[in-house]
Amino acid sequence: MARPMLGLVPDHRTQDINVLKINGISVVFDGFSALSEVNVEVRRNTVHFFIGPNGAGKTTLLDIICAKTKPTSGTVYFYPKSRSPVRLTGMKEHSIVNEGVARKFQVPSVFVNLTVLENMILSLKGHKGVLDSIFHRPENDDFDDIDRILERVDLRERKQVKAGSLAHGEKQWLEIAMQLVQKPEIIMLDEPAAGMGKPETEKTGEILREIKKTCTVIVVEHDMEFVKQAADTVTVLHEGKVLAEGAIDDVLADQTVQAVYLGRGGGEPPQTNVN
Ligand SMILES: Nc1ncnc2c1ncn2[C@@H]1O[C@H](COP(=O)(O)OP(=O)(O)O)[C@@H](O)[C@H]1O
Ligand SMILES: [Mg+2]
Repeated sequence: MARPMLGLVPDHRTQDINVLKINGISVVFDGFSALSEVNVEVRRNTVHFFIGPNGAGKTTLLDIICAKTKPTSGTVYFYPKSRSPVRLTGMKEHSIVNEGVARKFQVPSVFVNLTVLENMILSLKGHKGVLDSIFHRPENDDFDDIDRILERVDLRERKQVKAGSLAHGEKQWLEIAMQLVQKPEIIMLDEPAAGMGKPETEKTGEILREIKKTCTVIVVEHDMEFVKQAADTVTVLHEGKVLAEGAIDDVLADQTVQAVYLGRGGGEPPQTNVN
């Protein structure tokens, strides 16, 4: 698939359409090339999936965007909606979060002995921990925000429930909600539907499509049904390189993608969707 070469300096047109530009990213771990020359543009207010077999470099790419890992070469640019472009590469992880680029890790981060609401309060900007939230009561606006966000992940009715007694899917949605409290412009999720049954996976897809109205969603995933349901754009990574990119049906119809998925058992055999 022909892909345009990306210029080094972000231009205004790019900034209108895109929220993120991954520019020539390569990562070498002890001589092993985990990513090589990855160029991807992520459009604002879309659900953008990165798929590919195990070891393709998907998680590494998220690590690069949030600066958990340093690239060997290349740059990631973030285009906030109403501010100047930000060069994420070279920044500290916490500064990237402050800029509005959030990441939900696979390791659970909810406090199981606190309620859904208390977990949300702890996630408010400026709240540094349990003690801080005792001394600084949230404003009414904060509670309104929390209610609105919980509504979007369908947990508003579960506000007073201890996070520990939520179902697996509900815990995942709470974690997404806890990221949204910070009002990010981008949220990154690594296999958000892992361990979920079909109904929960479908609901996660619906939640992502709801969230993208206000926040671009970047997702790493294996489950093809989930990708088909929720994706606007799909980038297929294979052995650290971009193999194909586009709408899900086009990507699945691609011969090279079929060969990789059928040959490596990275997912179910692709099917053509008739809408
Ligand atoms: N910190 C690291 N040090 C060495 N190798 C790594 C490191 N992180 C990832 N890798 C290797 O890079 C490749 C890509 O890994 P990863 O990004 O986790 O793939 P994916 O998420 O697509 O399954 C794998 O071969 C993995 O073993
Ligand atoms: Mg991974």
